[in-house]
Amino acid sequence: MNNILFIKSSLNGEQGNSTILAQELVANLSVNSEVKVVERDLAEQGLEHLTQIEMAAWMTPANERNSAQVKLTHISDSLIEELTTSDTLVIAMPMYNYGVPSTFKAWVDRVARAGVTFRYTENGPVGLLKNKKVVIVAARGGIHAGTVSDSQTQYLTSFFNFLGLDDITFIYAEGLNMPGNEERYAAAQAEIKNYSL
Ligand SMILES: Cc1cc2nc3c(=O)[nH]c(=O)nc-3n(C[C@H](O)[C@H](O)[C@H](O)COP(=O)(O)O)c2cc1C
Repeated sequence: MNNILFIKSSLNGEQGNSTILAQELVANLSVNSEVKVVERDLAEQGLEHLTQIEMAAWMTPANERNSAQVKLTHISDSLIEELTTSDTLVIAMPMYNYGVPSTFKAWVDRVARAGVTFRYTENGPVGLLKNKKVVIVAARGGIHAGTVSDSQTQYLTSFFNFLGLDDITFIYAEGLNMPGNEERYAAAQAEIKNYSL
């Protein structure tokens, strides 16, 4: 059984290009192997920006947390549990204003926790997550892969490496708001069809 965590963050919900293409990937993986899928729609969930108060709640020993701190810590704990219990992360990734959606960044800020998903050592931080594949389906209006304007690829690679994950695949659906978009969309679909775990 392969546990898939399917993370979405399109402002366009189920109509988003990233959502539709990543959904095709999940459906394809389901045909070829036995999978259990947990979906997390970050655009719908609308996590707040991380605050000092929330971080302080994490850092308070569990048996000393007040009820507000218990509630705040639960937000991060539950997202981390979804992450740690998954074998494969399928990430539907729209490009918005040259970056990741702010709702996805709010997720990143909740799942990067010292002592839980990474730890500090004399040689720098070490990721505590292991043995997970990360597949990122990146939908863009323009064409960026391999150029300096692709801030997402480097950022996401660095972030998942930081947590200990280095088996990362990017599938790009680019130029979706440009002439030739249908061919490029079809090329992404073909890549999705060929992807196997
Ligand atoms: C608010 C907003 C910002 C965008 N910024 C960019 C951008 O910086 N670069 C780009 O190539 N496309 C940009 N686009 C186009 C999206 O990347 C494209 O529509 C893609 O399909 C988004 O994924 P989604 O359909 O899953 O939401 C932007 C779209 C929106 C709505």
